[in-house]
Amino acid sequence: MPSMAQGHGGVRNSTENKSNSFSNDSYARRQNILQQRKSLPIASVEKRLADEVRKHDILIIVGETGSGKTTQLPQFLFQAGFCRDGKVIGITQPRRVAAVTVAKRVAEESGVQLGQRVGYSIRFDDRTSAATKIKYMTDGLLLREALLDPYLSRYSVIIVDEAHERTVHTDVLLGLLKKVQKARSKSGHGHSSADNKKTSNGLLSDNENGARFKGIFKQRQGGNLPPLKLIIMSASLDARVFSEYFGGARAVHIQGRQFPVDILYTLYPETDYLDAALITIFQIHLEEGPGDILVFLTGQEEIESVERLVQERLQQLPEPIRKLITVPIFSSLPSEQQMRVFEPAVAGFRKVILATNIAETSVTIPGIKYVIDPGFVKARSYDPSKGMESLNVVPISKAQALQRSGRAGREGPGKCFRLYPESEFEKLEDSTKPEIKRCNLSNVILQLKALGVDDIIGFDFLEKPSRASIIKSLEQLFLLGALTDDCKLSDPVGHQMSRLPLDPIYSKALIVASQFNCLEEMLITVAMLSVESIFYAPREKLEEARTAMKCFASPEGDHLTLINVYRTSDEFLEKRKMEITKVKNEKLLRKWCKENFINSRSLRQARDVHSQIRGHAEQMGLRVSSCGDDMLQFRRCLAASFFLNAALRQPEGTYRALASGQVVQIHPSSVLFRAKPECIIFNELVQTNNKYIRNITRIDYLWLTELAPQFYTMQN
Ligand code: CDP
Ligand code: MG
Repeated sequence: MPSMAQGHGGVRNSTENKSNSFSNDSYARRQNILQQRKSLPIASVEKRLADEVRKHDILIIVGETGSGKTTQLPQFLFQAGFCRDGKVIGITQPRRVAAVTVAKRVAEESGVQLGQRVGYSIRFDDRTSAATKIKYMTDGLLLREALLDPYLSRYSVIIVDEAHERTVHTDVLLGLLKKVQKARSKSGHGHSSADNKKTSNGLLSDNENGARFKGIFKQRQGGNLPPLKLIIMSASLDARVFSEYFGGARAVHIQGRQFPVDILYTLYPETDYLDAALITIFQIHLEEGPGDILVFLTGQEEIESVERLVQERLQQLPEPIRKLITVPIFSSLPSEQQMRVFEPAVAGFRKVILATNIAETSVTIPGIKYVIDPGFVKARSYDPSKGMESLNVVPISKAQALQRSGRAGREGPGKCFRLYPESEFEKLEDSTKPEIKRCNLSNVILQLKALGVDDIIGFDFLEKPSRASIIKSLEQLFLLGALTDDCKLSDPVGHQMSRLPLDPIYSKALIVASQFNCLEEMLITVAMLSVESIFYAPREKLEEARTAMKCFASPEGDHLTLINVYRTSDEFLEKRKMEITKVKNEKLLRKWCKENFINSRSLRQARDVHSQIRGHAEQMGLRVSSCGDDMLQFRRCLAASFFLNAALRQPEGTYRALASGQVVQIHPSSVLFRAKPECIIFNELVQTNNKYIRNITRIDYLWLTELAPQFYTMQN
């Protein structure tokens, strides 16, 4: 429809007429934004939506990506007075980047500074203040908040956004919110459900009468709480599953805007989709009209390698047709680089956005006319019989393919290049399996337990995970010492673990390390393991990169190698500390990274994570000390922490994971790839054609029985 195009062009002209040069830019930008907001499909139903929310405590809103749900609805509700009593509107996102970029955008739209009325909070990064009324956050973060504030008493409205993604956190959150809402509803009775159980912290039981609730609230909260408004937003047209879960809740649809998109398939399957993507980027650039390109890749590593390949190939083109810029977007991208995808390219240039599936529905990027879809996504997968979770690159679902192609038709007709034959499309699953059915549940079980939900199997899940996978995860928590014999949170270990914002196995590692006097080393290890790819090796400089890596490599394994990288970067900065400012610091570090073939984005992120978890550890009273040169001590600590991921070499040179019995191989990127020690622990299982393990350290087999007798005497 024409009104969209009008939104951009028309306003820019009107500002060119103005002569005052200082305020011009920001004035123009504000006008432009205002115009854009007005032209969004959701704008025409502002009043109606606010009325619906007033009338219904639970509302499901379905609307196509880009209709304005995420950015506009919270502002509508703020205007309609939903924060009047000092309460906050919370919006959850499955992805960090979405929470951050949307909050920045909405702060700008509202003309306020980020962190004031509009803010965001994600793990390891909180930009909110006492003044914050519209708060974007990850779904996982809200779950954590519930630990401290079980009634979510600060919120008047909670919007669970991107519910169609069905992340494990969204699913669990919906179950929790259902309970919180009942507890906060005036009467507290009149509902019937299977989960009416009294729980250990007195929360969330709804088989008692309202008076009793009031009593608890008075006592604990110092007053009665208004009902909680719950809004579930989804980009998938099928709202049935949510509506049924909430007892036939009302669903409203927002009319979207979609231009036709030409779908093109390859004739034959591609053997190398990265190469195919690269060829397609240049084919579009050289043969198609103006418009930006969006390429869906599976992760940071792929994105960065395609970014380099595009740059290389550009250099081979004649100067006048080099007008192509690449912009990456993925979840762990440093916050100040994230907003670059939303900025229009310099006139005459074409923008190529290299994105993970974050650009499928979570963030709407303007200007896209061409989509390249290789058809893959990185997804978690869990085999409860083996107790192993892995990250695999798997084919997307039909629903995802449709969402992806839809991104090309938001502002005008577009084209989608699917890098697979049509016959392959027909074979795709209709929709993606909810994550709760394919992940290790120990993290959410730990949190539910900490919230006082003891009967995990009886919990009112939107869709129940398999009994086998619940039991396997309980067993793992028990082996980590987080649960007692009767499946209660253990004291202090279980409680401590539930407070750390890490996977249970890493939380436990920090606790173990404080006992082994090497928490300093473990904090660095956990921080470095929490980011993707510290090293990078561009194809054309493979040898140089290998030589550089050798300077850090430890014969004991990857964990110590990562510590070496971290500490060397620390020393490098420390030496220059006196001479330079913080900005220069950053620049120097980037240069150092480049010389050493270290991914500076990842290292910076690891340094951030490190300072955060160090803070958590100190707050919890864990002793932060170093084992100095005693690396034996640290390796013993690794064995005591990661005993569930131990593996033994087999005669043919492969390994057998002891807990699961799986046959695995050391990933070529490991420093132990050639050494192949007899017994190892590892931190990651990646499945491509082979089952690869990564982040590996050599240990002594006998340590396992000594340090993890709860597991290894049983298993022998
Ligand atoms: O949530 P939904 O997909 O319905 O839409 P949205 O995220 O609220 O996006 C509405 C509009 O805001 C889109 O046209 C985006 O292009 C724009 N937007 C933007 O320009 N910059 C951002 N950081 C976020 C959104
Ligand atoms: Mg949205």
